[in-house]
Order: sequence, then C-alpha cells, then structure tokens
Amino acid sequence: MTLEIPNDLAIALEAAGQVHLLGSWDSLSEESRRNLLSALRALDLPQIQKLGEHLRKPIEHEAQSFEAPMTFPLERTEEQQAYAQKAIALGERLLSESKVGFVLVAGGQGSRLGFDGPKGMVGVGPVSGLSLFGWHAARLTAAKQRFGTRITWFVMTSATNNGATRAFFEEQDFFGLGSENVHFFTQEMLPALDQEGRIVRTTPDELFLAPNGHGGTLQALRSEGMLDLAASLGIEQFSYFQVDNPLVRPADPLFVGLHAMAEADMSSKVVTKNEPGEKVGVLGLADGKLGCIEYSDLPESLREERDSGGQLRFRAGNIAVHMIRREFAEQLTLDGQLDLPWHLARKNLKGINAEGQVAEIPGVKFETFVFDALGAAANSVTLEVRREEEFAPVKNAEGSDSPASCRLALTESFGRMLEAAGLDLPERNPDGTLPLEVDPRVAENVEQFCETQRQMTPDEDGWLYR
Ligand code: UTP
Repeated sequence: MTLEIPNDLAIALEAAGQVHLLGSWDSLSEESRRNLLSALRALDLPQIQKLGEHLRKPIEHEAQSFEAPMTFPLERTEEQQAYAQKAIALGERLLSESKVGFVLVAGGQGSRLGFDGPKGMVGVGPVSGLSLFGWHAARLTAAKQRFGTRITWFVMTSATNNGATRAFFEEQDFFGLGSENVHFFTQEMLPALDQEGRIVRTTPDELFLAPNGHGGTLQALRSEGMLDLAASLGIEQFSYFQVDNPLVRPADPLFVGLHAMAEADMSSKVVTKNEPGEKVGVLGLADGKLGCIEYSDLPESLREERDSGGQLRFRAGNIAVHMIRREFAEQLTLDGQLDLPWHLARKNLKGINAEGQVAEIPGVKFETFVFDALGAAANSVTLEVRREEEFAPVKNAEGSDSPASCRLALTESFGRMLEAAGLDLPERNPDGTLPLEVDPRVAENVEQFCETQRQMTPDEDGWLYR
C-alpha cells in the first residue's frame, strides 16, 4: 500500500505555514516518504510558529541601565584571602564527598573550526597530541586523585555528533574513568528557518536541523534523566564547562566553595577583558538583571569607562564556566518552564529551494545560551581568574582561538611551572611553542608543580611530565 500524507498532519502543517515541506511528496520513494513523515511528526509546530513570529518581529530589549557585577577579584584584601581559604576548605570537602557532578557540553557543530568530527577529538597536547576530551578527562582524573571524589561525568552531545563522540570515548576506554561514570545525554535539535519562517530542507525528505544552543543543556539534563540520576547519587552541584577549553578547571575547590558559601544558584568565572575594543561579552546587570552583555549591546562610553583603580568598569569577560545548583536546574526546568531568550544566527544555509534544487538559502538558526539562566539566580558569585591559566578556547581553524594558539597557551602555562620550580626551559619549536607538557595529574598550577617536581624527571623523548 502506498504511503499517503495523513490528513491531520497536512492540516497542522498548513496551519503552521509549513505546507511547502510536502512539496516533493509525489516524487518521493516509499522510504523517503517514511523518513519525511517521521521528521514531520517529531516537529513541535507551535514552537516553530513562535520562532517564525520571533523572526518576523524580533523583540528588541534595549536595556536602559548597566551595572558591573560584584566580583571576587584576583588581587585580594586580607579579609578576602581569609574568606578564600574557608571557601577552598568547603570546596575540597564537597568534592571529597562527591557532591559535585561534572557537566561537559559538547553538542555544538564547531562550524568555525571545520574539523571533521566532534570538536573534542581535536588534538591539542603540545607533546602528546592529547585530545580536548582527553584533557578534560585528565583533569577529572586529577580531581579523583587529589580529593578522592567519585567522578560522575555528564557529557552533552547532539544528534550531529552523538555517535562519533560515544565511539571515541569507547575507543579511548573512557580515559580510564570507567564507562559507568560517564553519562551521555543529547540536547534537542531545532529546524532552521528561511527568512519567511519556513523550515529549510537539506534534501526533499530531510529537514535542516541544528542543536538548540548550550542553553539547551538545562532542559536536556532534565528530559534525559540526568537531574534524577544526579539526585540519586547525592550530587548537589554541577560544574559546567565547555569542550573547547583545555585549560578549564572543572574541579576548582575555590570556585566550588565560593559558590556554595554564597548559597548561589548559578555562578561564573570571568577573565579580565584586555582592552575596550575586545569583542567579548561581559557579565553585568542590564536593567538590574544579571547576564552576559554582548559587546554590541554595551554602549561605547561604558565599554571605555574605567573605575577609580584605572581598570575597565565592564571587564568581566565571560568564559562560560559555571557552577549550577542542582535544585536550581530542577526549578528552572519544572514542567518544561524554562524560558531562555532566543539568539538568532543569520547564515546562508545549504538546503533545497522551492524547485527542489540545492541552493544557499538565507536563513536563521535559533539558539539559547546557558548564561541567560543567570538572570533567574537568586544569588550568584562572579570569580575572576587568570586568562593565561584558565582560558584557551579552540574556536577557529587558524589565528586567534585556534588549535595553534591553544597549544601555545598550554605550553606557556607549563613553562611558568618549570620556571617557578627553578628548572631550565627546553628550546622552543619553530612555531614558538615549547616542546613541553605537564599532565594535569601531575600538576595543574605552579604551586602543585613546585610541590611535586623534586621527584620528577622529564621523559626521554623530551619534556613530557607525567
Ligand atoms: P560555541 O558557541 O563556540 O559553538 O560553543 P561551537 O558549536 O563549538 O562552534 P561554532 O560556533 O559552530 O563554530 C561553545 C560550547 O558550547 C557547546 C559547544 O560544543 C562548545 O562546547 N554547544 C554549543 C553545545 O553543546 N550545544 C550547542 O547547541 C551549541
């Protein structure tokens, strides 16, 4: 029997302005018809209608007032130093009691990098070639050794990279962390729309779908059962981090402790913005609500304003490293209530046009951002950290924020460890990097390296401390 378009679906598509999706129906094979039907059945048409309306009438929220956030600074008064010591002790306790679960988000498409596979597979170890996933795993293993914490690692993927990510973890034997401690969950995908709000197709029987942004993490944690799992394991806090930054410290006792001491719902790490023109979002309050203020949204006069100490007033550069209280994530996602604002990425999408031919279609992808949840947090800590020690993202194929710049930042941080320990540095490579690597399980900062370096010697093949 030939497959026909179910009446209710045709009516619903018509009502939602998406009837063009059935345009090629008559020429489709049975299998293609089946594919298309299941893709159409999976659509949340009311939501797509809302996205379409949003597209036609973007709601412009122009904030009237901006304030810089209170930040726990790098340069600390004596009082702040004493407070930090207490926070570290609390953070170490929470880690040792395995109250912290680790959430890595790796569902993005990495389109700027253009790597064929999940971004986490990119090798950035200057000597070892260790992958981004491998760096995160090494830091978690280090946390297990240092604090005796049980590692529970929640890894978010999306339909575009879920299979390849899982296969890589298996191939790497879960980096020694135990498959039972790694929990994959997938975020939702959303259809991309053309400028009239019609869903774009990549082929006559396939829709153009894209992951719904890292803001999708919170809902996916709930719908994929991770919040319940975390609760059953006694996890009270999530340490949230992104796949592209191998310098991130997922188990930082100071950050964990400051966040817990403040009874914060969601907290953030920031790095100091280099100069007024640096195009990074800064954390701040817009009309009294905490969030990330995009570079273009901050009035130029405020971008340049300095405080009495001569520092930029709006300098809290967002690096998307957060602590999130589990119960806060539960409240936010209760009954699918999470309502984060949409960010629109306008791009030329490779799809098929009305005539069924492959074409570049001016379209829009929709995403939500995790840091928009900060606005709902009753309490929040903003901790300033050193960029050169904690932030070296891989975003682009070349130039700044590329695998090369990331490798350089890693070797520079290892170089500082050796120098602090009074050791000679090896000769630099032609590309400026040091042929040097310190395994996070040995040391993640200068102090730890100085403590342990006496018993260590570099490997024969060069300078791989492990
Ligand atoms: P980016 O915003 O840098 O996006 O993600 P990306 O996908 O890595 O790269 P481009 O923009 O396509 O070039 C920051 C972090 O958020 C994750 C990414 O995997 C990365 O860890 N992310 C992003 C998701 O998990 N899901 C998304 O839908 C988007």
